[in-house]
Amino acid sequence: MSDGFIKVGKVGELQPGRMKRVNINGQRILLANVDGNFYATDDSCTHEEASLSTGFLKGDLVKCPLHGSRFNVRTGEVLEEPAEENLRTYPVRIEGNDILIGLT
Ligand code: FES
Repeated sequence: MSDGFIKVGKVGELQPGRMKRVNINGQRILLANVDGNFYATDDSCTHEEASLSTGFLKGDLVKCPLHGSRFNVRTGEVLEEPAEENLRTYPVRIEGNDILIGLT
C-alpha cells in the first residue's frame, strides 16, 4: 500500500476478455483482462461522460458504449473518433492471486 499500489481484486475473478470498473478512493478505473494480462486505464471516456466498463472489449481494444470511440487498454491510445484524447493508464501488478493497481 505504501508504494501506491492498491489491491483491487483477485486474478480468478476477472476472466480473459472481460473488464470491470473498480473504485479506488473515488477514482473510477477500468480493469481489463487481455489474454491473461491485466491492464488499467481511466474508466471515463475522454469524449464525454461514459463508463467504458459498460462498453465492449475486443482483444486489447475497448469501445465506448456512447459514441463508439475505441481505445487501446494497453497504451490508452485513442484509435477512433469522436474522442481525441488518450486515456490515462495505470501500472498493474500481480502478487500471488491479488491484482494491484498503482496510483502514483
Ligand atoms: S462518450 Fe465515449 S465516444 Fe462519446
